[in-house]
Amino acid sequence: MTLLFSFHRVSCAVPGEHTPADILEFAAAMLSSNPELSGCFVEAGSYMGAGTAKFSLAARLANRKLVVFDSFMGIPENSEQHGKNIFGGAAGFGGGDYCGTLEEVTGNLARYGSPTSCDLVPGWFEETLPNFDRPILAAYIDVDLVSSTADLLEVLFPLLQPGGVLFSQDGHLPLIIDLLDDDRFWRDEVGCAKPRWKAWVSGSSLGSLSPAFEGLPSVTARSHQRASTNAHGRRGCHSYEATPRVAREFF
Ligand SMILES: C[S@@+](CC[C@H](N)C(=O)[O-])C[C@H]1O[C@@H](n2cnc3c(N)ncnc32)[C@H](O)[C@@H]1O
Repeated sequence: MTLLFSFHRVSCAVPGEHTPADILEFAAAMLSSNPELSGCFVEAGSYMGAGTAKFSLAARLANRKLVVFDSFMGIPENSEQHGKNIFGGAAGFGGGDYCGTLEEVTGNLARYGSPTSCDLVPGWFEETLPNFDRPILAAYIDVDLVSSTADLLEVLFPLLQPGGVLFSQDGHLPLIIDLLDDDRFWRDEVGCAKPRWKAWVSGSSLGSLSPAFEGLPSVTARSHQRASTNAHGRRGCHSYEATPRVAREFF
């Protein structure tokens, strides 16, 4: 209960591009990770650090580190044409979008989270990931671009411990779905067979999440319509709509 109040406190103060359900689901995965396995948690794509602060509190409870990857300069320049998301809304990501500076994120972590539970890794993924080789129990990626998602999957997925989960919050983007569904990508770039996956919609009665097969890492791609603009003109934390959400789970 204390954790829930702490999450709510962060939501009221820090703009974030997630819903409470996104956070609760991943926090539950963090807190139910196998205590007998060594490993850390990973967040890639922190924006202003709202999710980071929340996950850091769960990491402290689990007595593990949360490793946070971000440029802290926003999304890189790119030419990806996302067109529309699966709900028909416009989807486009320009260089510098969703910029939360290192100073802003560390400040929000200090005020609302557990900074000592975090290792922040600033820089473009393609530069910072090659040096990373820590076993992972649970990873949460929310980076909007196919190129960024591919960079992450190639490094993070092989580091997942048995039963670990990798959770993508970009399952509303057709190009990301195509990547996750691409046999060649998994085989040639990640180095494994494409994990099996299934889709579900939360917030409606269309389906439900099935338990992961025991002992195998899984990938979940969750999608949602971004929360609407709040009173301060910032997208994020104060307005959550009960919109249908689609998620895909890979086994
Ligand atoms: C949509 S925001 C993340 C939102 C955050 N998860 C939340 O819930 O508030 C996307 C983030 O991905 C980061 N990002 C995307 N591609 C990146 C890359 N190639 N290298 C480093 N950071 C990247 C951006 O800096 C930005 O912080």
